[in-house]
Amino acid sequence: MDIQKLRDEIPALQNLTYLNTGWSGPPPRQAAAAMQERITLELEQGPTTPGVYDSGREIQAEARRAAARLLGADEDETLVTRNTTEGLNIVLSGLRWQEGDEILTCNLEHSSVLSPSWHLAHRYGVKVRVLDIAPHDSHDAIVGKFEAALNPRTRLIFVSHIEYSTGLRMPAAELCRLAHRHGAQILLDGAQTGGHIRLDVHRDGFDYYSIPGQKWALGYEGVGALYIRRELIEQVHPAHTGGRGVTQHGEPGDPGGYRINPSAMEKFLGGSGSVPLQAAFVEAVRFIESAGIAEIEARNLQLAARFKAQLAEIPAARVLSPTAATASSGLVSFTVANHPADSIVARLWQERRIVARQVHYPESVRASLHFFNTEEEVDRLAAAVAEL
Ligand SMILES: Cc1ncc(COP(=O)(O)O)c(C=O)c1O
Repeated sequence: MDIQKLRDEIPALQNLTYLNTGWSGPPPRQAAAAMQERITLELEQGPTTPGVYDSGREIQAEARRAAARLLGADEDETLVTRNTTEGLNIVLSGLRWQEGDEILTCNLEHSSVLSPSWHLAHRYGVKVRVLDIAPHDSHDAIVGKFEAALNPRTRLIFVSHIEYSTGLRMPAAELCRLAHRHGAQILLDGAQTGGHIRLDVHRDGFDYYSIPGQKWALGYEGVGALYIRRELIEQVHPAHTGGRGVTQHGEPGDPGGYRINPSAMEKFLGGSGSVPLQAAFVEAVRFIESAGIAEIEARNLQLAARFKAQLAEIPAARVLSPTAATASSGLVSFTVANHPADSIVARLWQERRIVARQVHYPESVRASLHFFNTEEEVDRLAAAVAEL
């Protein structure tokens, strides 16, 4: 991987040290250019003009193919959404819940997992069990905690594949097998994985998996993707639906004449989507693929290990992220004694032009290390922490 060449394609990196990809990644030039080109085309020719409209549909089809590649899925099991959370909600609002059904999740979760779960509890009397997971728990220990909590009422294990809070990589494939052995299913929040680690939803047997385009895949906010295992698509009711799910229109005024394929992901399309944003997503994924997803995964782990080792040398610093490679990712969370996380984040920016973020639980500073970050940037961050 030619890091400098790739960095040259991401203009933001020339101005600052960007360590917040886990929130939203810095787009490469080709993503911005594709969006601008599309905006100009629609500006000058109108979006539904013959030729323009068709090319927009082709961009949307290409976005679906790009999303399927990120997921390791087939196109017809993949839906382009607006973001991770939308995909999660499509699944959660589409399952037939009964009072007393149980969802297993954990304390390290993002509000995009906890909040929709809370609403299911409120609306249907679903029991949401939030398991206590420590970021340094081994994979065996985590699987053991879920296994102990599973019971005949468990419908769903609902967790992030990589926890946003500490970068803990969950034993997702093992949790999936565990769920299936107990007649339950798994819904994975992949907000921190698409474009970060190699995904193969078929190999791992996942039921439902949702990713964003704007984080590790380096697209813009407004595009994400959802995978549903082919056999399950029909069982998920589309809480939002519309004309794009119709395969054949009936006579005017005759709703009974419509043909709808309940096994097609198109049934979840509530309406139109943004072609310019999807054009940017297609190019962002191509950019990621040009670096190589397996290479990205390995490099991010190396950068994270380097930073964790440096933090371990600083007496006042404490690393909250796991250290075992199998449980690690490009996210590193840490604390510094007597320095609130928000003040560290503010000082990193004001004094060093380093963009990081604060995580509220566990309270910490989080650095996102993606392939385009350099060893020098990691060293500079560690030096800044040491100085604090
Ligand atoms: C684990 C997790 N889930 C969900 C989200 C929300 O993502 P999106 O804005 O794509 O819905 C984020 C990040 O913001 C996240 O880290």
